Amino acid sequence: MQHFLSVKDADSLESLLAQALYYKKNPFADQTVGKGKRLGCLFLNPSMRTRLSTQIAAQQLGMEAIVFNVGAEGWSMEFEEGAIMNGTTVEHVKDAAPILGQYFDILAIRTFPGLQDRATDYAENILNQFVKYAGIPILSLESATRHPLQSLADILTIEEEIKSRPTNFSNRKPRVVLSWAPHIKPLPQCVANSFAEWMNHWGKADFVITHPNGMELDETFTNGAKIIHDQKVALEGADFVYVKNWSGVHQYGKMAEGDTHSWMLTQESLAITHQAKVMHCLPVRRNVELSDQILDSTASLVNQQAGNRVWAAQAVLKNLLHTHE
Ligand code: CP
Repeated sequence: MQHFLSVKDADSLESLLAQALYYKKNPFADQTVGKGKRLGCLFLNPSMRTRLSTQIAAQQLGMEAIVFNVGAEGWSMEFEEGAIMNGTTVEHVKDAAPILGQYFDILAIRTFPGLQDRATDYAENILNQFVKYAGIPILSLESATRHPLQSLADILTIEEEIKSRPTNFSNRKPRVVLSWAPHIKPLPQCVANSFAEWMNHWGKADFVITHPNGMELDETFTNGAKIIHDQKVALEGADFVYVKNWSGVHQYGKMAEGDTHSWMLTQESLAITHQAKVMHCLPVRRNVELSDQILDSTASLVNQQAGNRVWAAQAVLKNLLHTHE
């Protein structure tokens, strides 16, 4: 694994999942793998789970992890080629990235989309410039279009649940529904894009996406997945419901039109599912995206998902270290 930016970088999803599960049972089994190696974690945007789980994962491999909240504490960075830097930006990525490449063995980066211009965000300009100029492996901690570490932890969580109820799935695939949720502002597509991409790659589910008209995801990510605009129809017989807000590919960075409150998943909407387990990447706006009743019930997998972020990150870091040792 040269970098970890999307599912395409996972040489074998099966072995990554097995490695993550192994670390969950044996957190300190590879304590010397990262000895003498340093992970730099650059945050251009806020985080709780990604930041802490990645640090813990690195430490369990014997790596030193240094976090730099560049968005809050660093020089304002410039990413435009040929920019005349007479404005607010102080340091060009072409100058910063090679220095970080000398300080660290792996560079992990969180950089959200601007949600102003789709083409700019889809070009992944910021992440790609670190790949180009740092000269070391780059690990995405969520970028403009994807959140691959989240998706790996999500599939690990689904697999654990399937294994805990084997008779339910002995002769059929689980039905996994990615359901759009209301929010007070338009959010990035990263989690939804990545989840769709990883579910397609995993290929072990009857995968369905449901959203209001206008909230379509790009076909690059959904890649032929079943799309059902009627949430009730989509939820029928669901085993897992992944809840997330996103802004559509055509109405990019915009709110959905009309009253979308009815898209919030409730106990009533779960009644037509197959006692579905409910997922969300967190943070979640309670009683806007998901009801208290669901989040506080045994149907919720959100804590398990967040816990599994450690093992997903540890498996990926091990792979990056192994490739570059
Ligand atoms: N799910 C997730 O990425 O959480 P944070 O934004 O807190 O890292």
